[in-house]
Amino acid sequence: MQKLEMLYEGKAKKVFKTVEEKLYIVDYKDDATAFNGVKKGTIVGKGVVNNKMSAAMFLMLEEKGIPTHFVKLLSDRESLVKAVKILPLEVIIRNVVAGSFSKRMGIEEGTELKETILEFCYKNDELGDPIINDYHIYAVGLADREQVATVKEYAFKINEIMKAYFLERGIRLVDFKLEFGLYEGKVILADEISPDTCRLWDVATGKKLDKDRFRRDLGDVEATYQEVLNRIQG
Ligand code: TMP
Repeated sequence: MQKLEMLYEGKAKKVFKTVEEKLYIVDYKDDATAFNGVKKGTIVGKGVVNNKMSAAMFLMLEEKGIPTHFVKLLSDRESLVKAVKILPLEVIIRNVVAGSFSKRMGIEEGTELKETILEFCYKNDELGDPIINDYHIYAVGLADREQVATVKEYAFKINEIMKAYFLERGIRLVDFKLEFGLYEGKVILADEISPDTCRLWDVATGKKLDKDRFRRDLGDVEATYQEVLNRIQG
């Protein structure tokens, strides 16, 4: 399948139309940003890792009954996906205190949570993806009640599946971000699942195996992305 005109270029991916109206091609870049685009850089090989890891995660989740946009891998950096209309929501699941939640709540990173947290952010770069709740979603019309119920059900199921999957690979799933889209009127999982969108800590050493290495200048960024892919493919 060939790429036609580019539909959209984001911070980490480009999306192209294809001859099939219902299919897009996603092309993963090595560009990395943090803090809403304030910090910019390159993580060499990240596009390849994120493309292959997302493919593996989507296939695994499909097998467990979660519908996703993934169709097939086309090349090292490209995947064929269903042409969804993305819901303007970032869905964050937190198992352990970290990142913006740690700052917002004044709780030390690494603290276990008594219950899993689901947060919504309004996906809007100009506004810096502000945190919102269900009332904001319905009042503004970002999604309807049935869609939000499905998003929540899938997000918690995905968390259980991914926690077990990563644990088998010596990794603690701290938190992650999901995006969903509409395809033929149904909510399906879209975007990517990668070290850019998850916090992954090594069980044995506590080492951060994700984009926090870039965000916080911890070094060993490229090798760590490869390490995560190796554990998934291994
Ligand atoms: P946060 O602690 O910065 O809110 O991030 C929570 C999770 O969401 C973390 O796993 C990283 C991921 N994330 C994204 O995928 N994209 C983003 O733009 C942000 C801010 C976080």
